[in-house]
Amino acid sequence: MALPEGFLEDLKFRNPIEDVISSYVSLKRAGSNLVGLCPFHNEKSPSFTVFPATRGFYCFGCGAGGDAITFIMKAENLDYIGAVEHLCKRVGMELPEDDYTKKRGDSDVKKARVFAANRDAARFFHDMLSKPEGQAGLVYLRSRGLSDSVIRRFGLGFAPDEFTLRKNLFLDHMLGLGYTEKELLASFLCAKSQKNGRLYPIFRNRVMFPVIDITGEVVAFGGRVMDDSKPKYLNSSDTPGFKKSRTLFAMNYAKNACAERLILCEGYMDVIAVHAAGMANAVATLGTAITAEQARIMARYTKEVVIAYDMDDAGRRAAEKAIHLLDSVGVRTKILKLNGAKDPDEFIRKFGADAFRLRLDDSENQFDYRCSTVIASHDLEDFNDRMACIAELTALLATLHTDVERDVYIGRISEKLGVSRESLKNDVLRSRKRQEKSREKEETRRQIQQSAGYGDRINPERSKYRRAASAEESVLGILLLYPELLQQVIAKDGVALREEEFLTAFNRRVFAFLLQCTEEHGHFDIGYLGEAFTDEEIGRITGMMVARTKLTKNDMSVIRDNAAVLRAEGIREKQHSTEATTEDLQNLINRRRGC
Ligand code: UTP
Ligand code: MN
Repeated sequence: MALPEGFLEDLKFRNPIEDVISSYVSLKRAGSNLVGLCPFHNEKSPSFTVFPATRGFYCFGCGAGGDAITFIMKAENLDYIGAVEHLCKRVGMELPEDDYTKKRGDSDVKKARVFAANRDAARFFHDMLSKPEGQAGLVYLRSRGLSDSVIRRFGLGFAPDEFTLRKNLFLDHMLGLGYTEKELLASFLCAKSQKNGRLYPIFRNRVMFPVIDITGEVVAFGGRVMDDSKPKYLNSSDTPGFKKSRTLFAMNYAKNACAERLILCEGYMDVIAVHAAGMANAVATLGTAITAEQARIMARYTKEVVIAYDMDDAGRRAAEKAIHLLDSVGVRTKILKLNGAKDPDEFIRKFGADAFRLRLDDSENQFDYRCSTVIASHDLEDFNDRMACIAELTALLATLHTDVERDVYIGRISEKLGVSRESLKNDVLRSRKRQEKSREKEETRRQIQQSAGYGDRINPERSKYRRAASAEESVLGILLLYPELLQQVIAKDGVALREEEFLTAFNRRVFAFLLQCTEEHGHFDIGYLGEAFTDEEIGRITGMMVARTKLTKNDMSVIRDNAAVLRAEGIREKQHSTEATTEDLQNLINRRRGC
């Protein structure tokens, strides 16, 4: 994305990071920095640090980090350009018109064109239902019990079986409306044949469920086969106008009906069935497990989520994850128990809307649900089993956060199991202390591991090339602090460091991005990281920079020394991996020296 020269600097100058963040976190001065409780993970002592001088933030607990723009991305759940726009609004700056509709980095297809293409596609699929080529779709949807008005309300449709029909209905239609090949590809509506380079529609012979975002734009589709073939559902991938992890099916309707309660289903058909039964507060994720971003979106609109997942093993695990994510954003959760049916759609078809509504009111909160699962899995008549059950419940009770909650449940459970309230209470307190200790231990272990590079998801090669990675990070850290040194670092008569000399892929990518950014924008700014890296990755990159701010010497000589270490490690690695002869090694060294 090409924002005008100086625009980001101006934006960040007018949005000092400490001001931006202090509307979310209460910050206290600590020397030249500010600290507070991290808004991105639960903590009791502040490890979240804001660095006004470098205009960055970093959490030493969870590794989140970045600048004002990436902070807003995370906190407000926005994409890069959305965050830029948010900060513009905050200080009354204009966002350059041309970039407003564009999305991030790699694609130059405008978001507005992607929306328009998806909307026209949805209309095409819907209209098919009244054409001969679409009758199979209409018959299928009706066979699933959907009325014409529900079909219309959700804009359901049908993508014809073009390969069998030997027709180009969809493509001709879209090209006729003026969409370019590039736009159809970027919108995930068409793909290009490897064989003959021709465009063909991605969705064929499937009933179509359009996904509409909160602002009313058609952003994606789910397409279902009408038989048992696989995959059952095909979903749009992310496009310049769509991020699966931040979208919920039917949220466009549910957002106006869910202040008290939202029903989270697994599938498109479940959501539609619940809506058809007169409850507009149902949503579903799009073929993936719930993400933290989706949990935050739900938290914005509702107080309570009833989880209506299939109750098989996979569904139970998914429910556990949902409970955990929703819990951490402060949303109450309940589990819907549907006996006699595998999902809400089937339940409503079998037992009717009223029965479903009754179940809803009867749904257990997640704690009751967990307790009853524990109790059900033990034989209370058997002494040993009964003791095991009490031990498990004690551990569960210890996870409750407030004294009031604990009191209520201790009362209930002591009654149910016939144990004294006092002794249960003591057990729970002991268990809480133990849990606290092991949590602390776990946290320390995680931090140690992270700094050692074990189990490192962001840079998995870090533990393999420890010395090299640390040299790379020193170079990158200094360059992030002083981007103006980059020219000397790459200059032939300077250090002449090249991208290929980085041993770990992640650090190599960061270096390549520094180069690319400098080329494109004339300079580097952490703000640009949002174009190419995930939040977690930006955290890691910021960490490299923060690590250097703690050291006194950050100049070309340090870069030179670390580049030398990196080169030596590179040679050692080559030697190691190919068992090179001394001759090869000599050649290699000569080549590096430029002979
Ligand atoms: P289910 O297999 O439970 O389907 O998948 P369903 O919603 O009950 O659909 P019907 O009743 O068989 O028509 C639940 C959800 O998981 C995603 C879809 O979003 C689906 O609605 N899914 C499932 C996929 O994305 N791909 C698949 O192949 C299967
Ligand atoms: Mn189903």
